[in-house]
Amino acid sequence: MRIDKWLSNTGYGSRKEVKQLLKSGAVTLNGEVIKDAKTQADPDQDKVMVHGEEAVYKEFIYLMMNKPQGVISATEDSRHETVIDLLYMEDQNFEPFPVGRLDIDTEGLLILTNDGQLSHSLLSPKKHVPKTYYAKINGSIPEDAFESFKEGVILDDGYKTKPAFLKILTDDNDESEIELTITEGKFHQVKRMFEAIGRKVIFLKRIKMGQLKLDESLELGMYRELAEEELSLLSLKGDVFE
Ligand code: URA
Repeated sequence: MRIDKWLSNTGYGSRKEVKQLLKSGAVTLNGEVIKDAKTQADPDQDKVMVHGEEAVYKEFIYLMMNKPQGVISATEDSRHETVIDLLYMEDQNFEPFPVGRLDIDTEGLLILTNDGQLSHSLLSPKKHVPKTYYAKINGSIPEDAFESFKEGVILDDGYKTKPAFLKILTDDNDESEIELTITEGKFHQVKRMFEAIGRKVIFLKRIKMGQLKLDESLELGMYRELAEEELSLLSLKGDVFE
């Protein structure tokens, strides 16, 4: 691979910025200063250093974000800030994209990656990766809500949802709190499921995907890289009705 690709994939800036870095003499390949952006290097064998620090090559990036409200889960938008705008430049250089969508007013766990295969397998309807949401609902929870969601409810477009697991946290005439685990990702699914039982979601936050929980120490709008063990938790299903 070309050294400029190696360096930009390691967070040293765009190809143009990396060219400048090379020109400045800051980069060595196996101990020799290199200045030509076209120099070839092999991540399995070669050692690249920048200002004396090793630039360990990585192809993929996996980030967990606590998405705030008001930000769009897309890579570009003409009107609103996107989740990509919240990333540091060194992470944007990997060209990550969000895995699935959270509505503009939904908070919580969002995975960003440039690994198309992982994204595809997490979103595939065949995989049924569970996603758990915390929600505040107007009014009390109807008595048969647990059974209705387990059976599947009919959405406004006639679609019958797959079994979902409802956990009631608080139940009050003014406002209730729940957790709902679903295994699909239809447009506005949680909001529409509650509409189907005559209630309105007034706050929504994703707290879990597969067996991976949102790191609650991440403030809204903050993110961090996933550890390897966390990556494997993402595609684990567990038992939704445990
Ligand atoms: N369900 C919704 O209604 N909105 C989301 O953002 C995610 C799930």
